[in-house]
Amino acid sequence: MSDEPVSDDPMSDDALTGDPAAAGVAMDDPYWSIHCVDVHKRLGGVAILDGVTLDVPDDTITIVLGPSGTGKSVLIKHLIGLMFPDSGDILIHGDSVPRLPLPQLLALRRRIGVLFQDGALFGSMNIYDNVAFPLRQNTERSESEIADVVKQRLADVGLTAFEGLFPSELSGGMRKRAGFARALCTEPDIVIFDEPDSGLDPVRTALLCELIQEMHATYGGTYIVVTHDIAAARRIGEYIAVLWKGRIVQSGAAAEMFASENPFVRQFLSGSASGPLGMD
Ligand SMILES: Nc1ncnc2c1ncn2[C@@H]1O[C@H](COP(=O)(O)OP(=O)(O)OP(=O)(O)O)[C@@H](O)[C@H]1O
Ligand SMILES: [Mg+2]
Repeated sequence: MSDEPVSDDPMSDDALTGDPAAAGVAMDDPYWSIHCVDVHKRLGGVAILDGVTLDVPDDTITIVLGPSGTGKSVLIKHLIGLMFPDSGDILIHGDSVPRLPLPQLLALRRRIGVLFQDGALFGSMNIYDNVAFPLRQNTERSESEIADVVKQRLADVGLTAFEGLFPSELSGGMRKRAGFARALCTEPDIVIFDEPDSGLDPVRTALLCELIQEMHATYGGTYIVVTHDIAAARRIGEYIAVLWKGRIVQSGAAAEMFASENPFVRQFLSGSASGPLGMD
């Protein structure tokens, strides 16, 4: 959250900095739960992440905004150790994700709830069993203890009456909510949403955003919502990072970002056709 003026050139080093040191924040400041430090990743010979430096504040809803195909899902995979960087580092609560031995990586993943872009529910299981799955898989809890949690989470997301249905019998919005219930059932301290709004109409997107806000207010935690929906960012974002061409253009508190002088950020957040961002 820098008061430094940003460069007029949206892709200059100054404009692209997400460097907390530049913002006067120490790297080990406990306020940040996640640090991405100069993360590079090439896929199929193309630089997808091209020096991502991003700090995610604790106990806050952070929005990572970026156009389609810009590397948002790839970034999420790095956060949870499903992909590893060619260079750079990802630190979660001080642990380097790419350097964690497998047992610790699996333990870390259990502390992170993820709502994948497509919901990623098991088609062969009903909604109750989908939500119960991480608890059955990762905990020693009895079925009656699991039932208490599953029923609470299904009530939270308004799916109590639908627990016996299969994913194919639900609407897209209901599948997202079921995925959300599943992501929350292990009481994760970090919850990551990959485009929760994709495939939903504006009303259902608004309702889902409301639900994300409510769940965050109830259970707390570090929420990261990845999206290209500026309206969603405006509605629920407390901290916003703009990702473009594999780098973070700027990040900061929502009010600061919506008042940004950076021409790319301004154009992107206002959804304007005029500015440095073209169709390329
Ligand atoms: N496993 C992979 N191998 C090769 N290329 C990949 C792989 N995964 C992703 N990519 C490429 O990386 C780029 C970024 O993909 P990614 O899925 O992260 O985009 P995104 O920002 O999430 O887009 P969307 O908003 O459409 O979900 C795309 O060009 C994609 O084709
Ligand atoms: Mg994606």
